[in-house]
Amino acid sequence: MGRISLEGISKIFGSNSATALGLVEQGKRKSDIAAACGAIVGLRDISFDIEEGEILVLMGLSGSGKSTLLRCMNRLVEPSCGRIVVDGVDVTRLGRKDLLAFRQKTFGMVFQHFALLPNRTILGNVGFGLEIKQVSARERVERSMQAIELVGLKGWETKYPSELSGGMQQRAGLARALAADADILLMDEAFSALDPLIRRDMQAELRELQRKLKKTIVFVSHDLDEAVALGGRIVLMKDGEVVQIGQPEEIVARPATDYVERFVEHIDLAAVLRAEQVADRSAPVLAPTQTVAEARTALGGTNGGASGGASGGSWLVADGDGRLVGRLFADRLASARPSETLAGLLDLGLPVVPAESRLDTLLATVAAHESVAVVGRDGRLIGAVTSRSVVQALAARPGTHGQPKAGAPILSKPSGAPTWSGTSPNSPSTRSATTASTGSPSMAVG
Ligand SMILES: Nc1ncnc2c1ncn2[C@@H]1O[C@H](COP(=O)(O)OP(=O)(O)OP(=O)(O)O)[C@@H](O)[C@H]1O
Ligand SMILES: [Mg+2]
Repeated sequence: MGRISLEGISKIFGSNSATALGLVEQGKRKSDIAAACGAIVGLRDISFDIEEGEILVLMGLSGSGKSTLLRCMNRLVEPSCGRIVVDGVDVTRLGRKDLLAFRQKTFGMVFQHFALLPNRTILGNVGFGLEIKQVSARERVERSMQAIELVGLKGWETKYPSELSGGMQQRAGLARALAADADILLMDEAFSALDPLIRRDMQAELRELQRKLKKTIVFVSHDLDEAVALGGRIVLMKDGEVVQIGQPEEIVARPATDYVERFVEHIDLAAVLRAEQVADRSAPVLAPTQTVAEARTALGGTNGGASGGASGGSWLVADGDGRLVGRLFADRLASARPSETLAGLLDLGLPVVPAESRLDTLLATVAAHESVAVVGRDGRLIGAVTSRSVVQALAARPGTHGQPKAGAPILSKPSGAPTWSGTSPNSPSTRSATTASTGSPSMAVG
């Protein structure tokens, strides 16, 4: 449970919404519409699906419509037009009573700026939503304690919010949403007021909880690093529109517009790139049945093509089905007799990683073993990640002036897309604004 479909959602604030909707349909810009009829376009014609059990991060500059879109999902904000379908229920058609019941059952909300109730213990706060739902006291305590344990606050349940640190209070807010056991969590800047270390812990914990509980989570954030850490798709918004949706690595590889490109130009590439994007696919792959003489010929030189052509001082060796057998070091090839077959010369200790592994998890292995083989889901060899291919991939960052070597980066732009621009002085990144602590944070659940 937890699949959400948004179909043509627009939201106009202020009067003249009919006129404004007409102008939206004509493709007029937000600023022109404001000038023409005074209405503010909060969202315009948004359609996409959120899959059951995914973490989706809504990102964009301040005022781009993230909170409005999140709140439209459970109609805390009424869309001006369009349909929202959740688990087959057309939420936009529910009457008031049914809407309240559906909202309570299906959605948990976690915000940045809602206080825990100060005169209730943590247990009392976490169980508050269940109390409203008239769940019996015994079940309430049981479910609240489970949630408290999940967020690592066991032992603190009898304390009051003022006795907890900001980070612990946010955990309590999260526990309150979890205790209600809703399928969908809507989280608006839920970690923004935390200091960076605690914030990173909370991101990791949310990811872990997500894996365990399989909730559908829609998370609003200003912070690209946070979006990457949460590990799901990103929806990039601008002026009430969706500009691009995709996994971080797809967005970095193929930014749809200059705005997106500027948004991702400071991203931590090592946290985003996948092994298959970094693997050197151009190095020759040898067969275990080849003789040393054949291999030398194939590599284009009498001594084995010289180690300069080898990936990490070695070549990968794969069987006829493209499955990795081992690697052949250049010096081994150079010193072997011409009639020997490669099968007897191989190093079998080469580390192997799946195609979707993140680059930052591979760096230590690449450093220790010179190269790491990357295999696809079908078990076939894709190529090797070597220190050279790592440097090439990192040097291909959008907006850098270095010329990446041909073949290295999947980070090249699709044909027809705008060219990379240099580092922009007015980058839309707002990270610095969101990592500053704003004092004691609190959060609440609706
Ligand atoms: N109640 C409202 N009345 C009038 N305009 C509104 C209202 N709520 C939002 N807006 C406008 O809708 C647009 C989107 O606002 P929204 O709060 O969704 O942005 P946001 O992306 O969440 O920004 P932030 O990052 O600052 O929280 C803005 O232009 C905002 O001024
Ligand atoms: Mg907002």
